[in-house]
Amino acid sequence: MTSHSLPKGMIRAASVAGPHEGYMPGFGNDFETEALPGALPQGMNSPQKCNYGLYGEQLSGTAFTAPSHQNERTWCYRIRPSVKHTHRFKRIQVPHWKSAPLIDPEIMSLGQYRWDPVAVPSEPLTWVTGMRTMTTAGDVSTQTGMASHMYLVNQSMQDEYFFSADGELLVVPQEGRLRFCTELGIIDLEPREIAILPRGLVYRVEVLEGPARGFVCENYGQKFALPGRGPIGANCMANRRDFKTPVAAFEDRDAPSKVYVKWAGMFHVTEIDHSPLDVVAWHGNYAPCKYDLRTYCPVGAILFDHPDPSIFTVLTAPSGIEGTANIDFVLFRERWMVAENTFRPPWYHKNVMSELMGNIYGVYDAKPKGFVPGGMSLHNCMIPHGPDRNAFEGASNAALKPEKLDETMSFMFETRFPQHLTPWAATNGHAQEDYIDCWGSLEKKFDGTTGIK
Ligand SMILES: [Fe+2]
Repeated sequence: MTSHSLPKGMIRAASVAGPHEGYMPGFGNDFETEALPGALPQGMNSPQKCNYGLYGEQLSGTAFTAPSHQNERTWCYRIRPSVKHTHRFKRIQVPHWKSAPLIDPEIMSLGQYRWDPVAVPSEPLTWVTGMRTMTTAGDVSTQTGMASHMYLVNQSMQDEYFFSADGELLVVPQEGRLRFCTELGIIDLEPREIAILPRGLVYRVEVLEGPARGFVCENYGQKFALPGRGPIGANCMANRRDFKTPVAAFEDRDAPSKVYVKWAGMFHVTEIDHSPLDVVAWHGNYAPCKYDLRTYCPVGAILFDHPDPSIFTVLTAPSGIEGTANIDFVLFRERWMVAENTFRPPWYHKNVMSELMGNIYGVYDAKPKGFVPGGMSLHNCMIPHGPDRNAFEGASNAALKPEKLDETMSFMFETRFPQHLTPWAATNGHAQEDYIDCWGSLEKKFDGTTGIK
């Protein structure tokens, strides 16, 4: 079959045999994929004339001169060049999707915060209009820092598309299933999976099973990468093969369409007369991917104490200071607890990094109550936190037999920059005003006498 015999509007995708149908395994690989045979030039990027009358175009996710091991770009072979996928821009307001810096003098971000889940409203909300920013950090225009969002989505985008020049999005679903129809292929996403949507990638989001709710980390800075494992070696934690990048898929559809653009913290719309998802073939290493969190292989204590929570880092986005992340994405999932003579939950601490957590499902061991699926918490730069009294007393007196933390999955977006609450986070009525009281009943046990109390 050639493209000429395809009905207008049909989505045509390449096929892949094997266990990852529709996806290609690997993190940051140099992929190649074509939805029509012979659409991808071989041995060169820019032939004088491309097959099928396609246009060749490069999408660069890093500066041309980035070191070769960090250089990311993808060559696209598309029905129209991207200059046809935008026209004049018009500024619009998307009132709940905020960007840094956003420091409201009326809003206090100093303290320990926790939120109950927010239900998806009944009003129609798309990926763009349903985004609710919780915190911002750094500065979007200097490409440092991040924003954390909840998405509350109940409506598919129809003849609407979106791209952000402000950063990549790390998507963490908590309820419902979404389809991301992107320039480079289709990603279906459900809870317990995550997706990374690169800066500049054009896509449309459809609701496969709604309403859909989840969390998003908008990374203004350098791209997410896999953390170095150091002495752990070549395996465990997140393994490269478990990341999946979609095969090429394109739409040849003529219809009045809107493209929404987030750029320097501002929103814009531009109108065109066709689908911009028209990449028939591509090759390169700048592409969206998804990852199943259930394939994360945790490593931890096997005799006493436990390592810092960085041991659970799935992805890390570097900052300019070595070892100090712009963002770490950290996963607390099912695992065995076996440490001897050890207080097993996370210890009390203060941290230069700012920690925003979300619960995907189950019970989190440091907070048996109050931090529930769909809920979030924030422990900002140098704000003390740790187990509540129930967790402390339980763990201090438990018989230390091997125990499985089961049916639990929470995560953390951790950044080197202070996180500032948005007006919505401060006033949405879901903040737990009594959160700080969870430590109120912790007892003073010290009385000057020696011995176990
Ligand atoms: Fe912490």
